[in-house]
Amino acid sequence: MRRSGKHEAVGEDKLIDNEIDKFLKRLSCAAIAIASLTLLFLFLHTPDTCVPHHAPRKPHLRFPKSTCDFSTRVYVPADKRNLRLRYTRLWKAKVNSFSILFRDLALLRNHSHVLCVSAGAGHEVEALHRLGVDEVTGVEILESPPLVGRADPHNLPFFDGAFDLAFTARFDEALFPARFAAEMERVVTSGGACLVLVAECGNDEVREVVGLFRNSKLVRSSNVSLSGTRMTSILMRTRDNSS
Ligand SMILES: *[C@@H]1O[C@H](CO)[C@@H](O)[C@H](O)[C@H]1NC(C)=O
Ligand SMILES: *[C@@H]1O[C@H](CO)[C@@H](O)[C@H](O)[C@H]1NC(C)=O
Repeated sequence: MRRSGKHEAVGEDKLIDNEIDKFLKRLSCAAIAIASLTLLFLFLHTPDTCVPHHAPRKPHLRFPKSTCDFSTRVYVPADKRNLRLRYTRLWKAKVNSFSILFRDLALLRNHSHVLCVSAGAGHEVEALHRLGVDEVTGVEILESPPLVGRADPHNLPFFDGAFDLAFTARFDEALFPARFAAEMERVVTSGGACLVLVAECGNDEVREVVGLFRNSKLVRSSNVSLSGTRMTSILMRTRDNSS
């Protein structure tokens, strides 16, 4: 009795094995069929997103959004970007502010050579151009063409005494203020001027700033408004070494 029971169980096992076998075979047939169809489909339809229809005209000026994108996002050169910036109201307001500041200074002539240190996008450079100053040089750590070139304010690439006036509206942000001040003084001719704008401050702070310009003395300081920002302008004259 026990034996025949075992035989029956083995028979049933075999039956189940066969069913599983058949099922697996059907499954693999289906898988092979699907895989073949997919291959055929890929072969017939090469995805056209990955193939440029036309070679980009200036490949070095184009950055694809993804590895499969050869078309959009054209690189805009900095001077073109800045040209757009120069039509904004904010730009014009700030340039106006600088124009008024320089005009009230009554210090500049048409032939003056002026250096603007840490000039950002060059608002002050444009303001000086508008006042009729011929020789204006704007520099910044990152260049911003066409108004501002690249130079480290702590290591200016200019000869001693090359300018009549050195100006900065970013003295507050100087990494090494003493070095920054020394470089401004160095490139200004003896008897020339350094003009510095800092966040509005009292006389003690003004004295501190002037103290960093070791070769200059204070001419005057005044509180000014630069497109709405309250600032203190500090005008210094470098010592005239010739007399
Ligand atoms: C430069 O010259 C022009 C015309 O002669 C004059 O209107 C202008 O005020 C001068 N600018 C400066 C800064 O002297
Ligand atoms: C500028 O403003 C500050 C306060 O914001 C004041 O202490 C200082 O006296 C002002 N300076 C001048 C020259 O008016």
